[in-house]
Amino acid sequence: MAFHNFLVTGANGMLGQDLVTYLKGKGYSVTGLSHQELDLLKPLDELKRTIARYEPEIIIHSAAYTNVDGAERDPELAMTINKDGSRKIAVIARDLGCILGYVSTDFVFDGAQNIPYTPEDRPNPVNAYGLSKYYGELMVKELLDSYYIMRTSWLYGVHRHNFVQYILEGARQGNPLTIVNDWRGSPTWTGSLSHMIEQLVTSGAFGTYHMVDEGAESKYTQALAICESAGLSTNHITPASYKDFSFSARRPIYSVLDSGTLATPHWKTSLQAYLQQYFQQVSR
Ligand SMILES: NC(=O)c1ccc[n+]([C@@H]2O[C@H](COP(=O)([O-])OP(=O)(O)OC[C@H]3O[C@@H](n4cnc5c(N)ncnc54)[C@H](OP(=O)(O)O)[C@@H]3O)[C@@H](O)[C@H]2O)c1
Repeated sequence: MAFHNFLVTGANGMLGQDLVTYLKGKGYSVTGLSHQELDLLKPLDELKRTIARYEPEIIIHSAAYTNVDGAERDPELAMTINKDGSRKIAVIARDLGCILGYVSTDFVFDGAQNIPYTPEDRPNPVNAYGLSKYYGELMVKELLDSYYIMRTSWLYGVHRHNFVQYILEGARQGNPLTIVNDWRGSPTWTGSLSHMIEQLVTSGAFGTYHMVDEGAESKYTQALAICESAGLSTNHITPASYKDFSFSARRPIYSVLDSGTLATPHWKTSLQAYLQQYFQQVSR
């Protein structure tokens, strides 16, 4: 599918920043709108005027309220941004005749399965963040025929603090770390996800997809692999059960996603690419 004009919401976020850079590097015309430039809490008409100015052919809606424990404390705010805000973006996409790609999450699932979730599996969110993102999906489906729902998980990228960075900092400072070993998912680099998003949305095969790097880990085995890949000791890392932690929000303890026939790199290959970027950044 040939189009040129992308618009990315949440462009200052961890994924948004990498996605805008990636798409520009591929020669697309890309407008990235930050939270300040496009606040989903603003009225629909105002958002529509802002977006219409850029005449996008496709909107990648990455903006979201992403604080999982915060959403448990303020579910109304999460719902207003992730459900109602996504509804506004879907209405705008419909009215302007553009395609919508909605970035969604493994947290739409309850984690009760022990084999990777496919797009056909039934969502059943177990926390307020997951519920708000799932309602966002439903808004997109209700309003549009030409949409991509792109579920991803356990994201890390150089532009925001994330689990990989937490592990690297802990290892370099020699801090003892206790990491969950019975919570499994698919770690995914924002760089490889950006490539997957471009591949999918230019395919014309609309629908719901799972888009993660290949491989499944517990947080603990991921932490070990991060240290080993960076040449750091793992002696300071201790495994612990999910039950030993007191998060405000319940997590789906198994949320490995099946990307189907989509070509995705192994997460350890992506990790190497991330580590190169990360160490370049910290040595500056
Ligand atoms: N991180 C993960 O592990 C993960 C996993 C699965 C799916 N996802 C999904 O991937 C997408 C990108 O996530 P991310 O990890 O890049 O998160 P992020 O860094 O928090 O990016 C989200 C962006 O949305 C913006 N935002 C928040 N409230 C907004 C509002 N009212 N109006 C407009 N923009 C608003 C944030 O701006 P401020 O920071 O200025 O508030 C931020 O720039 C999200 O849709 C998320 O649900 C993430």
